[in-house]
Amino acid sequence: MEYTKQLHQASNYIQSLMAFDPEFGIILGTGLGALVDKIEIEHTIEYKDIPHFPVSTVESHSGRLIFGQLSGKNVIAMQGRFHHYEGYTMKQVTFPVRVMKLLGIRKLFVSNAAGGVNLNFQVADLMILEDHIDLSRENPLTGANLDEFGVRFPDMSEPYERKMIVEALQIAKHEGIRCHEGVYAGVSGPNLETRAEYRFLRTIGADAVGMSTVPEVIVARHMNLPVFAISAITDLCDPDHLEVAELSKILAAAAKAEKGMTTLLQNLIALQ
Ligand code: HPA
Repeated sequence: MEYTKQLHQASNYIQSLMAFDPEFGIILGTGLGALVDKIEIEHTIEYKDIPHFPVSTVESHSGRLIFGQLSGKNVIAMQGRFHHYEGYTMKQVTFPVRVMKLLGIRKLFVSNAAGGVNLNFQVADLMILEDHIDLSRENPLTGANLDEFGVRFPDMSEPYERKMIVEALQIAKHEGIRCHEGVYAGVSGPNLETRAEYRFLRTIGADAVGMSTVPEVIVARHMNLPVFAISAITDLCDPDHLEVAELSKILAAAAKAEKGMTTLLQNLIALQ
C-alpha cells in the first residue's frame, strides 16, 4: 500500500481510540527513559496494535506510544525507537514522526546516546545538537516526494531551532547541569568507529557521533516541524587513547546523564 495511505491509516486508528490534541512529540532515546515517570499518562498504545507501525526488535526498548501531560502540555512520547542498523528502512525509522505530525504535534524533541568526539567533553555530559552531519547511507526522503508533507528539497539552514537551544542552555546553567552545544555526526552503525574514523569525524567538525536522530530530524524538517535534540555523551572517542567500548559502561553513563536530561527537557517543554 502507498506509504501516505499507511500513515493516514495509522493516525486515523489512533484518533479513533481517543480524543487527544498533542502539542509536542518526544522520542525517548537513551538517557530519557526516566522522563516517562514525569508524564501524567492518559493513554498508551502498543506499536504492534497500530496499523503499519514498525515494531521494536531490541528487547530493552518497550514499544509504545504514551499520551499524556508533561509540564502541563499535551505530549506524545515514543517509548522505543527504531534504528536503521536493526534492519528497518529509513521510511520505517521515520514513520512514527510523520504519524505524530498527522496527529497534530507542533514541535519534536529527541534524545540519544552519543560518543564524545570533542575532547573537552566528559562522560555523562549533555550536548545540545546545534547542527548535524549526515553520514548514514540512506536518506528517508529518497523516492517520490510526499508533497502533502513538504517540498522536494527541504531547507536545512536551521535544523535545530535556535530559540530552544538558547533556552535549554540557560536552563542547564541555572540547574547546574554540564551541557554543551555541538555538531552531531549521524552514522549507520552498528559497529563503533575506528580510530581513523574518529580522527576524520573531528576533522570534519563533529563534536559527537551516534547512530540515530538524523533521519527523524530530516523528516521533521521536511514537514517544517521545529526540532530540539540532545545527546548524553556516553563514551569518549579519543583516537590516541581509545578504550574498548563496553555496552555496560555506555548504559551506565547514559543512566548518569538521565537526571539532568530529564530536568532540562521538563523545563524546556514548560516554556514552549
Ligand atoms: N559511536 C561511538 N560511541 C558511541 C556511539 C557511536 O555511534 N553511540 C554511543 N556511543
